Amino acid sequence: VRTGRCVVAVDGPSGSGKSTVSRRLATALDARYLDTGAMYRAVTWAVLRSGVDPQDAEAVTKVAGETDLKIGVDPEAPSVTADGVAVDREIRGPEVTAAVSAVSAVPAVRELLVALQRRMIEAAGRIVVEGRDIGAVVAPDADLKVYLTASAEARAQRRSTENAADLAATAADLARRDRLDSTRTADPLRQAPDAVVLDTTSLGIDEVVARLHDLLTGRRPGQ
Ligand code: DC
Repeated sequence: VRTGRCVVAVDGPSGSGKSTVSRRLATALDARYLDTGAMYRAVTWAVLRSGVDPQDAEAVTKVAGETDLKIGVDPEAPSVTADGVAVDREIRGPEVTAAVSAVSAVPAVRELLVALQRRMIEAAGRIVVEGRDIGAVVAPDADLKVYLTASAEARAQRRSTENAADLAATAADLARRDRLDSTRTADPLRQAPDAVVLDTTSLGIDEVVARLHDLLTGRRPGQ
């Protein structure tokens, strides 16, 4: 599996371990890595910078169409620039995190980014793609579709450790984003029917990566 076309779709809610698992798997497969959440976040950053109200779908669509996004797909050093500005740090900040659900709920924004994601997947050939709608919408013909879950407590714990933030506030923010991301009308977070579901609450990252690698190479755990 280290050569030739190979597309892996990794979906799941925030804090499920998607990013770490996806990057490690991409490195193990000698593949590229695409963080589609970073794309929605970069558009959100551009929306906030331009002073547009994130709830104003028409204005948000206009900003999305005018923003030049460049996504680096090296799993060891992923990067995002918007209109030439490196925004890797800013897109993880509280302002963008608070507004990204509204921006990613705009159908025209999704259309634009999904088209860009499909072009990037096509160009890369071997790639691990993480997001919310990858297996169901962006790459329905992926070689492997994974849906990662974890208990709400485990997810809040991981995120608050990552961001050095208060656990209760992080749990409340995650619950709010989960609700917005799974109830929006345009491509809500959902499991593709043919996805492999892994609960990472008590599985270590290495174990998850090893299981996925085994699934791709056709080995069953223990073999
Ligand atoms: O994975 P993340 O937390 O960086 O994603 C940021 C937001 O973008 C999240 O609230 C849901 C949205 N998103 C989406 O709607 N579709 C994707 N493919 C990826 C992310």
